[in-house]
Amino acid sequence: MNFKEIKDGIYYVGTNDFTTKLFEALWPLPLGISYNSYIVKGEKIALVDCVEISQSNKLANNVKSIIGVRHPDYLIINHMEPDHSGAINVLRTYFPDMKIVGNAITLDMVRGFYGIYDNLIEVSDNDTIDLGGKILRFRLTPMVHWPETMITYIEEDRTLFSGDAFGCFGALNGGIVDADINTTPYFPEMYRYYSNIIGKYGKAVQRAFSKISDLEIEYICPAHGPVWYEEIDRVFSIYNRLSRYIGEPGVVVAYGSMYGNTAAMADAIAIRLSSNGIKDVKIYNVSYSHQSYILGDIFRYSGLVIGSPTYSGGLFPPIENLIAAIKNRGLCNRVVATFGSFSWGAQAVKTMNSMLENCRLLNLDNISSVESKHAPTPSTIAACYHLADRLSRNLVSEF
Ligand code: FEO
Repeated sequence: MNFKEIKDGIYYVGTNDFTTKLFEALWPLPLGISYNSYIVKGEKIALVDCVEISQSNKLANNVKSIIGVRHPDYLIINHMEPDHSGAINVLRTYFPDMKIVGNAITLDMVRGFYGIYDNLIEVSDNDTIDLGGKILRFRLTPMVHWPETMITYIEEDRTLFSGDAFGCFGALNGGIVDADINTTPYFPEMYRYYSNIIGKYGKAVQRAFSKISDLEIEYICPAHGPVWYEEIDRVFSIYNRLSRYIGEPGVVVAYGSMYGNTAAMADAIAIRLSSNGIKDVKIYNVSYSHQSYILGDIFRYSGLVIGSPTYSGGLFPPIENLIAAIKNRGLCNRVVATFGSFSWGAQAVKTMNSMLENCRLLNLDNISSVESKHAPTPSTIAACYHLADRLSRNLVSEF
């Protein structure tokens, strides 16, 4: 790992995790993940953000490689989810006099998760700690992504330590700052990270944007992924759109299919969407694509078509899970249509429409669905084309 000095007196000391398969025991990490941590050196020293427990010794060694025999005076906890707090107790064995800084909710969690009752400093919104030459300012940004979340800002360096906000999946590959690396692989992982981890908390992200609107920002040091310098505008734009649930032009066609009939309808819809000039059409077979990727694109694009066969008198189970995940995250501002097939009792489309009705999604009117009894006939395929045409027109009118 490259312990890069990001700015004078601000060093990256985070760690990479290439071995955890599922983040939060749910979300695949094909590119790994970084747990970012930073040393800020004034006359006193602060360690901003911590790492996951398996990375504890690596973090301690990284810190020592920067500050030698000195100890950090403070550990600033911007976020208590254990991917950022798990190492606290091990770190205290290396640096027993280090004071842990957090807000009231943070410190309640420090006591509750780790049984730590000493060396705690409570801060409130807009409080500061003067390191001598660098002043740390704290702003509370609850629910980005837990209730205790806060950000830390150094005015002298125009540097923001943003916690989960503006982060992404994907370990760092030697380089730390976006200007030094090819960031292309990180952006799809940003959509997936945002939609799955933070997607429910769009309003909180918008409040956080307001909370930092008066800050001059040259560097963003998030808790995951690259440090942002050159691409701050792009990152802000993505987080702003996603948290306002504003999609880009494009359509996700997500379907389940046991024997190919619903799949044939998905193909017909996608082909027609494409021939209507929609360049970003993403087909997902829910039995084979992990839901996290489907959600990432559902958050990204403004059109959504969901297909399911009737299964045991209800929905195909992965489709039911997908719709539950969409509802959980309060997704809105989408043009939505549904389709499906059945053998003897039509139920899937009715159930999907009922579940999606309360999602604040922009359902098309009474032709927003196509349902096929048995295999799709030429007239079923024609209805799929018609549905795709209606959706295309509505999508275009959105922009
Ligand atoms: Fe990266 Fe909400 O923890």
